[in-house]
Order: sequence, then C-alpha cells, then structure tokens
Amino acid sequence: MSKPKIRKVGIAGSGTMGSGIAQLVAASGYRVVLIDLNDGLLKKAVSRIEKNLLRLVEKDKITKKIKQQIVSRIITSTNLEELGDCDLVIEAVSENINIKKQLFEKLDTILKKGCIIASNTSTLPIIQLAMITNRPENVVGIHFFNPAPVMKLVEIIKSLTTSDQTVQKAKEFTLSLGKDPVITKDRPGFIVNRILLPMLNEAVFALEEGMGTAQDIDKAMKLGTNHPMGPLELIDLIGLDVILDILDVLFEEFKDPKYRACPLLRQMVRAGHLGRKSGRGFHDY
Ligand code: 3HC
Repeated sequence: MSKPKIRKVGIAGSGTMGSGIAQLVAASGYRVVLIDLNDGLLKKAVSRIEKNLLRLVEKDKITKKIKQQIVSRIITSTNLEELGDCDLVIEAVSENINIKKQLFEKLDTILKKGCIIASNTSTLPIIQLAMITNRPENVVGIHFFNPAPVMKLVEIIKSLTTSDQTVQKAKEFTLSLGKDPVITKDRPGFIVNRILLPMLNEAVFALEEGMGTAQDIDKAMKLGTNHPMGPLELIDLIGLDVILDILDVLFEEFKDPKYRACPLLRQMVRAGHLGRKSGRGFHDY
C-alpha cells in the first residue's frame, strides 16, 4: 500500500512505550525525533533500542547494517522546537492529564499547520487533550501495546472532534508500520484496557487473598486460558504504576466499583515495586 504523506515523526516521551514506538517507526523507514526532559533519559532510551535491535541481529532477523540504519533515523533532543517540521507527533509521556495537557498546549504552538497530534494514552479522554489545542480535528488517539515493536494491535481513537481525514491518516500510518488497527470510541480504557484491567486487578486480589502464589496464579492463567503471559507477569511488564494509573482513571470516569484498584497494588507502587523496570514487582528480575 502507498505510504501516507507522513515522513517525519516526533515522539514525546522516551520511556518504555515512547522508545518502543520510536524503534518501530524508525524500523518502518520514517525519520524520528525522540524528545524527553533530559539527556540521561534519552541515552537510556537509545541504549534500550540498541539492545532490542541487537537481539534481532543475533537472531538473524536483521543485519548489522539495517540495525545501524534504524538507529541513524532516530534523532534525540530535549528541545520541543525540534518537532516543528514533523508531520505527526505521538505523545507518550506519563499518564497524568495535567502533564499531557501542558504538553499539548506547547505542541500546538510549535507544530506546523496540519500536523497530527496523537496520544498514546492508555485510558485518558482524547477530547480533553484535543480541546487544549486550536486543532481539535487533528488530535487522535493512537494506542500501541507493549512491547510496541511486537504487538500487532493498535487502537485508533476518534474523539468527538477528530476529523475522518485524521482517522484515515492515522490508520494508513499504522498499517505502514505493519500493525492491524481497530478504530474505536473515546471512552475510558478504549477496548483492550477496559476489558484487560479488571482481569489484571482481579489477579492481584487473588494473590492478596492467598488463592495461590504469584507463580501459581500466572501458571493457572497461562495453562488454563492459553495466555502468553500470566496476569502478574504482564503487570510487571507494563509497570505496576501504569496499571494503577489506568485503574484510577477507569474508576474516576465510570464511577463503577468494578474498577477499584486492589490495595496491594497501590501499596506495592508506594513501595517502589514497579515491575521489570525497577527490578521487582510480583516477581523478581
Ligand atoms: N523489539 C523487537 N522485537 C522484540 C522486542 C522488542 N522490544 N521484544 C520482543 N521481541 C520479539 C523477539 O525478538 C521475538 O521475535 P521472534 O519470535 O521473531 O524470534 C518475539 O518478540 C518474542 O519474544 P521472546 O522470544 O523474547 O519472548 P516471548 O516469546 O516470551 O514473547 C511477548 C514475549 C511478546 C512479550 C509475549 O510474552 C506476549 O505477547 N505477552 C503479552 C503481552 C501483552 O499482552 N501486551 C499488551 C499489554 S496491554 C498494553 O500494553 C496496553 C497499555 O496501555 C497498558
């Protein structure tokens, strides 16, 4: 299929999702500008990308030369102005509506006319971000799944103000990345997290009630439902803090007790046990 007229892609936020998206987008031939608050975060992101690509070289999936080409397509910067000539900017900063709103407000003044601003939010309302800008028709949700280079699905979220043209461009872009998108409505958690999060939360309640060890609960769900990972392992992969943030937004938005976060999850986040990224979650790494 023909490439949409997107050539340069900005990614704001270089954490797990931002760096995974940068890797994916650069591997698909786009030029990427990866932005974060300081050089230390950006260095970590680039070394994470290099490590992932090296694994692919070792598995003979890509050559060393391709790896270098992918990395060379990624420019890093702490200056948002560098995004000025991007055709699409994907926001992947932390799940905090105020931080995202501030960023969208700044981006709107810097980005060229017609540039699409996409949020990779897991659950926050796209409309709130759209209305901060003077281009609400160009604001859309493009929600990737972790690990972004591997997971086939992307949710494209159309808010009340997103134009059909923006949705179409977002769809073509995700297809060009080799993804298989679904278009959905701007409701908390969209499709996947709305269904997935109560299941993950329930696994933490099961652990707290002593239904089994973390290993037992993961084994039960892997062998009993053919999931590739157990729910507690998956929480560790996504990050306990991210899971808690999503549950809190779902609870706040729907006011439905089925989304109340398990107290054990909240306590573990307070203790700094955030999963793989901190070396300890429901399992040790
Ligand atoms: N970059 C590129 N490739 C990667 C990669 C990365 N960061 N991480 C893994 N891979 C590739 C590997 O090279 C391997 O490729 P191959 O099969 O062609 O050799 C393949 O992915 C599988 O990796 P591994 O062999 O290392 O490990 P597994 O077979 O155990 O698979 C997994 C790992 C893909 C993570 C699998 O366990 C899985 O699918 N788990 C479930 C993940 C999931 O549910 N994610 C969604 C979470 S919800 C979410 O993200 C929404 C958010 O809003 C919270």
